[in-house]
Amino acid sequence: MSQGPPERPFVQARDLRRIFDVSKPWLNRVLERAPRQYLKAVDGVSFDIRRGETFALVGESGSGKSTVARMVVGLLPPSDGTVSIAGISMNDVNVAQERQRLRRRIQMIFQDPYASLNPRWRVGRIIAEPIRAFGIVHGEADITGRVGELLTLVGLHPDDAGKFPHEFSGGQRQRIAIARALAANAEFIVCDEPTSALDVSVQAQILNLMRDLQQRFGLTYLFISHNLAVVRHMATRIGVMYLGRLVEVSEGKQLFSHPRHPYTRMLLDAVPDLAMVGKAREGVKGEIPNPISPPSGCTFHPRCPLVFERCRIESPPVIDGVACHAVNQGRIAAA
Ligand SMILES: Nc1ncnc2c1ncn2[C@@H]1O[C@H](COP(=O)(O)OP(=O)(O)OP(=O)(O)O)[C@@H](O)[C@H]1O
Ligand code: SF4
Ligand SMILES: [Mg+2]
Repeated sequence: MSQGPPERPFVQARDLRRIFDVSKPWLNRVLERAPRQYLKAVDGVSFDIRRGETFALVGESGSGKSTVARMVVGLLPPSDGTVSIAGISMNDVNVAQERQRLRRRIQMIFQDPYASLNPRWRVGRIIAEPIRAFGIVHGEADITGRVGELLTLVGLHPDDAGKFPHEFSGGQRQRIAIARALAANAEFIVCDEPTSALDVSVQAQILNLMRDLQQRFGLTYLFISHNLAVVRHMATRIGVMYLGRLVEVSEGKQLFSHPRHPYTRMLLDAVPDLAMVGKAREGVKGEIPNPISPPSGCTFHPRCPLVFERCRIESPPVIDGVACHAVNQGRIAAA
């Protein structure tokens, strides 16, 4: 009657930390008697992503979203903590070969596709590159055929293969970047603000395309945005980041209907298209503190309407997906 072990999450990030040395140059330090300075960009972040779901990371600028993304795909080594994808550790040196094979299955899409598309290459060559590099299809005719298929899949025309990236609009360039990710037969796509440079209507088209492709190919997404309204339509689960920490992780719908962390509530209050009729809008208050010398205890405490004594002293642990003393002590009920 054994049903076997439950399926392991596709992506597991455990206690990720990343510290940057942001000290002034050596000579300045000596002359000014300045100490070395360190910035904790990511501090103890853990999450799971199940196969086929979209896990979103949201938070204001500088909260550490891109740093997490870069560690997850292996572009940046963590100062501490681990990432494993499909059961393969991204950090363990003993599995370097397996990791190499995993590379193909993970692709990243950036905010500005123009910066990540070689301007001197025609689109056909850009999309064919991963096909050749990973030996996915062989023979020129078959490669050209596959490139045409991929262009059609993302809503472009096979003839577009002959053009250069500058001949396309921002939204079309993002389609090209998506086609290139699919060319590698990617299973896990990390999207860092993929639509924030685009007009709202174009944004919606790209988000729809990404959702269609997800359903068709069972793709898993890590989706990063500072915009909760964008994430709302994409995410299965949402993680809210503040100054390098994950302060709340919830199912997508639940985060909007029952936000728990005071920071999440503040962010939601600032989203204009959420129906909160008859309720005075507070908006996002206060400035993000300097991450080089963050506040003591809960780093959100200078901005928090619910702050109490303990918050200034003790950093709240994550309990049941929320890092907040007030929530964890039952001082506030869910909204
Ligand atoms: N290479 C680096 N060297 C020093 N500090 C860095 C480096 N990369 C990021 N940081 C700092 O780490 C913090 C987190 O940066 P990160 O880019 O991850 O934030 P983000 O949430 O992606 O912000 P945004 O929404 O602006 O893209 C910031 O304070 C940033 O200045
Ligand atoms: S721990 Fe305290 S300061 Fe931090 S969010 Fe909760 S109530 Fe606010
Ligand atoms: Mg970023």
